[in-house]
Amino acid sequence: MIIIRKAKLEDKVATNDAHKRSIREVCSKDYNEEQIRIWSDVTYSDEIWENSLKNDIYYVLEKDSVIEGFIHGRIHSDNTGEIMGLYFTPAIMGQGYGRKAFELVMKEILKSKPTKVIISGTKTALPFYKAMGFKVVEVKQSNIRGTVIETNEMELCV
Ligand SMILES: CC(C)(COP(=O)(O)OP(=O)(O)OC[C@H]1O[C@@H](n2cnc3c(N)ncnc32)[C@H](O)[C@@H]1OP(=O)(O)O)[C@@H](O)C(=O)NCCC(=O)NCCS
Repeated sequence: MIIIRKAKLEDKVATNDAHKRSIREVCSKDYNEEQIRIWSDVTYSDEIWENSLKNDIYYVLEKDSVIEGFIHGRIHSDNTGEIMGLYFTPAIMGQGYGRKAFELVMKEILKSKPTKVIISGTKTALPFYKAMGFKVVEVKQSNIRGTVIETNEMELCV
């Protein structure tokens, strides 16, 4: 059974692990080995994790009590909404939970009446974000943790 629930402080390590597994097991079809190795070498600091939970919108997805994905949304000071991260492992992908998680976060973002919601998305997630109504405004070479990967800068007008 898959459940979506608010992230808690004690979820840091398991969420970090799901993030790495998603990049390694899912995004590897669209990026090369070197890019995946550097990009997936992510370690959440206590400070960033605690601030994200305090100030942002953060849900995790659990299957059989193991965190297999997360979604992280933010409302910026200019009132723009942003999906900061959305990463699932193969254990929960393709079963409609991406849409469910996205809609849950959008419901909270929309409460602040933003004019748009943005995302710097992977090549891997492009069909998903198109299905959610986003339009690509720029294809960019983004530096993530010291490796350059192609991203789609997308917007959803709300
Ligand atoms: C992005 C991600 C979370 C989507 O999760 P998911 O479980 O596959 O999404 P869902 O099953 O809820 O799919 C939602 C919709 O997107 C569509 N979709 C998702 N992936 C698709 C694909 N590769 N090709 C075509 N359509 C796709 C589905 O058909 C579905 O459409 P519908 O609701 O109109 O029927 C998941 O693919 C993932 O973790 N990818 C790797 C990590 C990543 O790149 N994250 C993005 C970081 S910016």
